[in-house]
Amino acid sequence: MIVTKRVLLLAGVTCVLVACGNASGPVGPRPNPPDAGALPCAVELALETSCRECHTNPPRLGAPMPMLTRADLLASAVTQPSRRVYELVGERIRDDALPMPPGGRELLEVHRAVLTEWARAGAPAAGAGDLCADAGVGDGGAGDAGDAGVP
Ligand code: HEC
Repeated sequence: MIVTKRVLLLAGVTCVLVACGNASGPVGPRPNPPDAGALPCAVELALETSCRECHTNPPRLGAPMPMLTRADLLASAVTQPSRRVYELVGERIRDDALPMPPGGRELLEVHRAVLTEWARAGAPAAGAGDLCADAGVGDGGAGDAGDAGVP
């Protein structure tokens, strides 16, 4: 599987390098689709509050990948390239042995619920009215995230 992906990826890169015409459609894996749309505001707030201390771009404190954009969440997971980051998110936030966030950091129950539902639904993009900008939050203020996290 991994070998196949590598070959496809190489083929894609080679194709770009030698400009082999109008490729009509994806040639290989596309780890970071640029047009993936925005994250729903509730997801944005959960990630911002409990994950982006490490899962920023570039990632910090040993985290393997960023989780800033929806494209980041749709990308192949570093450790399991056949799966996507958001799928692993759904698992790790309820993994007692390897919890995320790690080190005794808190994940509010409401944020766990939001991330779980969103991952189960297949990581949909923000719908109309679902952007943090629409809700008037998401300017990075700590108060915003905390306030929105409490039902
Ligand atoms: C204090 C830093 C830190 C925070 C905060 C943090 N992570 Fe992580 N994360 C890591 C590190 C380090 C790893 C790699 C080691 C591991 O997998 O346990 C990791 C790995 C992961 C992985 C596995 C990626 C893979 O390819 O296997 C997922 C999924 C993940 N984190 C999700 C989250 C989510 C969701 C949150 C917030 C709810 C979060 N993390 C918060 C540091 C952090």
